Amino acid sequence: MSRVGFIGAGRIGQTIIYSCVKDAFADEIFVYDLSKDAVDNFREELKHAQATKGSKVNIVVVKDVSEIKNCDVIVISAGKPRKPGQSRRDLFADNASIIKGFAAVLPSNNQKAKFVMVANPVDMLASVFMKFSNRYTISSGTQVETMRMRSFIADKLGIPVSLIDGYAGGEHGEAAEIFWDSVTVDGVQFDSAASGKLTRQDVENYMKGIAAQIIAATGGTTWGPATIIADIIKSIVLCSNRVMTVAVPVKVNDETIHVGIPTVIGNHIGPALESTLSENDRKKLDDAKQRVYTAYKEMLDSLSK
Ligand SMILES: NC(=O)c1ccc[n+]([C@@H]2O[C@H](COP(=O)([O-])OP(=O)(O)OC[C@H]3O[C@@H](n4cnc5c(N)ncnc54)[C@H](O)[C@@H]3O)[C@@H](O)[C@H]2O)c1
Repeated sequence: MSRVGFIGAGRIGQTIIYSCVKDAFADEIFVYDLSKDAVDNFREELKHAQATKGSKVNIVVVKDVSEIKNCDVIVISAGKPRKPGQSRRDLFADNASIIKGFAAVLPSNNQKAKFVMVANPVDMLASVFMKFSNRYTISSGTQVETMRMRSFIADKLGIPVSLIDGYAGGEHGEAAEIFWDSVTVDGVQFDSAASGKLTRQDVENYMKGIAAQIIAATGGTTWGPATIIADIIKSIVLCSNRVMTVAVPVKVNDETIHVGIPTVIGNHIGPALESTLSENDRKKLDDAKQRVYTAYKEMLDSLSK
């Protein structure tokens, strides 16, 4: 019997939960949000969706985070979202103090759980949760960028997305790096396949800019990340061993930080396939680790002041 806990059921949380209930890959889900009344009513809607889909996932809404117990996976999306013009890093102070609270309560009630951070800045908050809970934590990382990159290339070249391979890694957001040596179009290296039709810069511009564009037009990103994150949870619960660029913990100097690396996602998370990247791409990843480390240290300092 598989159980997934959701901390936070706002815009992104609800959409992940919807995907989980529709695809019915967990037996039972627990949902906690400050706004219990909204979640109770969301549950009513889910029951209507289940009635037509025949999904049997048992949905439990809890009043307190301490009631989330014995889960296999816990997904944390509680926290403030970005407003137009704000960066993800601007959310650190507010969201880190919320996450620290969860880190004090969730681990002892969920001994086997894997923790998946969704709230932003997602990589730094995964590190905060891991630091204060002492439990293995990943974030959705750059799997979102990997899918944005693949979808754009497929669109522009007019071919099925299933023929695009390759990864984006490093830090989630505008600083994400495309591991260009990994990117192929129907087995052919990107530069040869896209020659005269699409440049690396076009793809990077889209991948880095599309979230801000969506937030400005609609108030927030939802369907893309939520579906991608639901697939991460599904790969853990069903032990599908998909390779995804989640952010995994890596030690840099004196801190554990999180960066997006192609990683096997199943019941066991790992290995991270860093060694399969080209030397060029590994260099980009190393640079990203240093940047994330420096930013994270500054943010931790500001938290303790
Ligand atoms: N990783 C990604 O790719 C990705 C994508 C979209 C959004 N996000 C991030 O996810 C977070 C949530 O975004 P959203 O659009 O769902 O925002 P939202 O405002 O719609 O939802 C946030 C939810 O968190 C709840 N909440 C806040 N503090 C809480 C607490 N202490 N305990 C319990 N619940 C609490 C709120 O009641 C609300 O329902 C943001 O930080 C956003 O930046 C990440």
